[in-house]
Amino acid sequence: MLRSSTHPRWADVSRRNLEALLSDHLHCERKAAENALSLVRRYPGPQPFVEALSRLAHEETSHIVQVSVLIAERGLAVRQDAPNHYARGLFALLRPREPDHRVDALLCAALIEARSHERLQLLARGFAEDGDQRLADFYRALGNAEERHAELFVELAETVAPKAEVAARLEELACAEAAILAGLPFAARVH
Ligand SMILES: [Fe+2]
Ligand SMILES: [Fe+2]
Repeated sequence: MLRSSTHPRWADVSRRNLEALLSDHLHCERKAAENALSLVRRYPGPQPFVEALSRLAHEETSHIVQVSVLIAERGLAVRQDAPNHYARGLFALLRPREPDHRVDALLCAALIEARSHERLQLLARGFAEDGDQRLADFYRALGNAEERHAELFVELAETVAPKAEVAARLEELACAEAAILAGLPFAARVH
């Protein structure tokens, strides 16, 4: 789904600043839950759509709890959320008219999940090399969940518009996502 790969140095920068990384990660999980529920607010039907997004919000909320436990275990503090230029750049691409807006909102969410999956897997590998098995296992488990979420968002988009149309738009947005990410500096954050 992604049209670029994260630079290998990103994972090194992020692993070296665990408090910043975990704080950003906690806020990412919170925003994933909030975004799923805001889609339910904007589109309160049909029932399977509401159910899938509500269950997803529930799972993301459980991820917030897991990250917060890990932060406490390490004796770290959760920092305030910082502006996310990545998500802002993506959401600026949403077409205004329906059902295009809904399709784009779902596909941008899919791309954010796919990027999270890629990066959490990189962290899992890096922490395994560092010999930190707790963090390696943690990031592997959460990374797998984000992969499922990326697929779910594409499937939901396919309930709103024809498959071929969704695939073409996903390609466009995936190129835009890669360009947005390429314009941002490396930082100890998920994205
Ligand atoms: Fe999550
Ligand atoms: Fe997710």
